Amino acid sequence: MTAPTTLSLGDPSTFDDGVPHEALAEMRRTTPVLWQEMPDGQPGFHAVLAHADVVTVAREPVLFSASEGGVVLEDLDPENLEMMRNMLLAMDPPRHVTYRRPLAETFRVKVIAGLEDQIRGIVRAILDEAVEAGDVDVVHEVAAHLPTQVMGRLMGLPEEDWALLHSLAERQTAGQDPEVVGDQPDHSASIDMAMYAIGFAADRRTQPPKEDLTTLILDGDFGGEAMTDVDFGSFFVQLVTAGNDTTRTMLSSGLLALLQHPDQMAELRADPSLTAGAVEEILRWANPLHYFRRTATADTELGGVPIAAGEKVAMYYTAANRDDDVFADAQAFDIHRDPNPHLSFGIAEHFCLGVHLARLEGRVFFEELLSTVDRIELTGDPVRLRSNLNNGYKRLPVRLGRG
Ligand code: HEM
Repeated sequence: MTAPTTLSLGDPSTFDDGVPHEALAEMRRTTPVLWQEMPDGQPGFHAVLAHADVVTVAREPVLFSASEGGVVLEDLDPENLEMMRNMLLAMDPPRHVTYRRPLAETFRVKVIAGLEDQIRGIVRAILDEAVEAGDVDVVHEVAAHLPTQVMGRLMGLPEEDWALLHSLAERQTAGQDPEVVGDQPDHSASIDMAMYAIGFAADRRTQPPKEDLTTLILDGDFGGEAMTDVDFGSFFVQLVTAGNDTTRTMLSSGLLALLQHPDQMAELRADPSLTAGAVEEILRWANPLHYFRRTATADTELGGVPIAAGEKVAMYYTAANRDDDVFADAQAFDIHRDPNPHLSFGIAEHFCLGVHLARLEGRVFFEELLSTVDRIELTGDPVRLRSNLNNGYKRLPVRLGRG
């Protein structure tokens, strides 16, 4: 086994061949709050590995700020940090609540549940096309289409624009993988997406209100102020960014998990009522995001480890989700696991706004896939996306067939 402390969690290549779960578990048992250097010489960070400690950090949004240094490990230049601070994800109280409250209504479980038929229709069309093709890369040709089309529906975008949104979202993938992003990250897709959304908002203001997220945002009251079209543009980009790679990963890693556990896949085919629980286990076992970061705003301590004001603290969902103080047989994939208090959607102040939507997309996708596609086989090796943040694949080649 790898010597525990030699694992560098900040180094994207650490996860190239898969997540070193055994080593991570050993680190969590011996040093649950562990100092880590950054590979590029930037200031290091405290890796928080135990479930209880991740919860403690998430529940203290003033002491552990999302805004101070942003939510990723890498130090951002002032311009990018400022951009991040305008995202809900990286706002602190009280501004965070002001922005989140008006949106929470749209993402409520009851409202999202009303989208089920539409989402099922979208899933069926995506699967029909994939089965027609036969050999597909699940990541880009199947999974990636669902979140962009659902977002198109939710925001009320004209259907003929969904393909454009999809190609922008694919270009914008927030990877650290040189094969995906080249030498320089390409910010132009985000800018193009924001420009598109600004134009869309301006057009919608000339029309009567509709029952969609766009009307809710344009008419919303954000601390006594309305959103400008430019604000709308950046908010739109945020929603697409937050929901796209994560959902794509949930679906593709979930399918791989089921292919690796054929007994459980067969069980799920036989009893679709198990699907919601299976999706939770997929989220726990193959969490789409490794961590989110905070910055300590005062000297403090966690699990007896002193943390100085200004130091980075990273909540490792990947380790916390397999904490054997919380989960029996934590390394095992088990669609019957109940309860399943995984932290893949975070917890507390910043708990994922899209959680009900993501769960619905996951359940409907696997229900439809397993009830309508009889043959699913891997046709090559899955290839992981190089990243210290995104825990997923960039290629998953499969052959799909019916009858
Ligand atoms: C499987 C899919 C998803 C996963 C694993 C996921 C994960 C997360 C996590 C871990 C956070 C908490 C961040 C923190 O504590 O700093 C978060 C926040 C957020 N998510 Fe998701 N997410 C998913 C899907 C979505 C979708 C579909 C949407 C919207 C369409 C969405 C929108 C958001 C937003 C807006 C926030 C920020 C909330 C806030 O700061 O108050 N997410 N998500």
